[in-house]
Amino acid sequence: MLGLFFLQKRGALVGLKNTTSQYGSVAKWIHWITALCFLLAYITIHYSHRLEFRSPEYMTVIYLHASLGITVGVLFLPRLIWRLINPEPELDPAPKWQHRAAKSAHWALYFVLIAMPLTGWFGFGIPWFEYFGMFEIPSFLGTGIFETPLVTNLGLTFEEWEAPLDYFHKNIMGQKVLILLLLVHIGAALYHHFGAKDDTLRRMLPGGNPRC
Ligand code: HEM
Repeated sequence: MLGLFFLQKRGALVGLKNTTSQYGSVAKWIHWITALCFLLAYITIHYSHRLEFRSPEYMTVIYLHASLGITVGVLFLPRLIWRLINPEPELDPAPKWQHRAAKSAHWALYFVLIAMPLTGWFGFGIPWFEYFGMFEIPSFLGTGIFETPLVTNLGLTFEEWEAPLDYFHKNIMGQKVLILLLLVHIGAALYHHFGAKDDTLRRMLPGGNPRC
């Protein structure tokens, strides 16, 4: 935080930070890396359904899915901090209800960005996974916390613990809420760009500058 403040004082953050009319490059990078990881997390998990359960190929694809999901979770914190210490580009003129809907959808997406990685990690039935084949990361099961009195006093088996987390991760969020939210988010961005022809999408595109 102090470092950021110092850099800001020296003007070193120009272009990196948001302005009232444009997202800076840090926000853009985090946004598009997150979007890519999300897309690949979907592709990998659906591809895993074609493979034999727990075969080496299946495990490789599941580890890939977990690595992509963890990356989204890890990026969440800098994303939130960056959002809180930066100005938000002003919304293009539109009816009030649309502004309110946009803000609500953004906060709902923030919830998803942390809820999906957390429920995936807490409910992962294997003690560890390889992060993009580079090093091992323990899942919640592998940290040993599940064996502590905190959880054992609840008298739960891991299967009982993971069942609601899996249901939330797969059935509620993965197959319904998340798809709906993403469709609204992407639909709104395309509507602004091609329908309303304003700068909403352009502001988040790499190198995209608002029309003057
Ligand atoms: C952005 C983060 C994530 C997204 C968008 C995501 C998405 C999904 C979706 C959509 C499904 C359900 C697919 C289906 O059966 O229809 C799923 C299943 C699953 N996810 Fe995630 N996930 C994320 C993070 C994680 C993380 C961090 C882990 C583990 C550390 C994880 C582990 C799993 C596992 C084990 C399954 C079940 C595989 C199966 O039995 O079919 N996910 N995920």
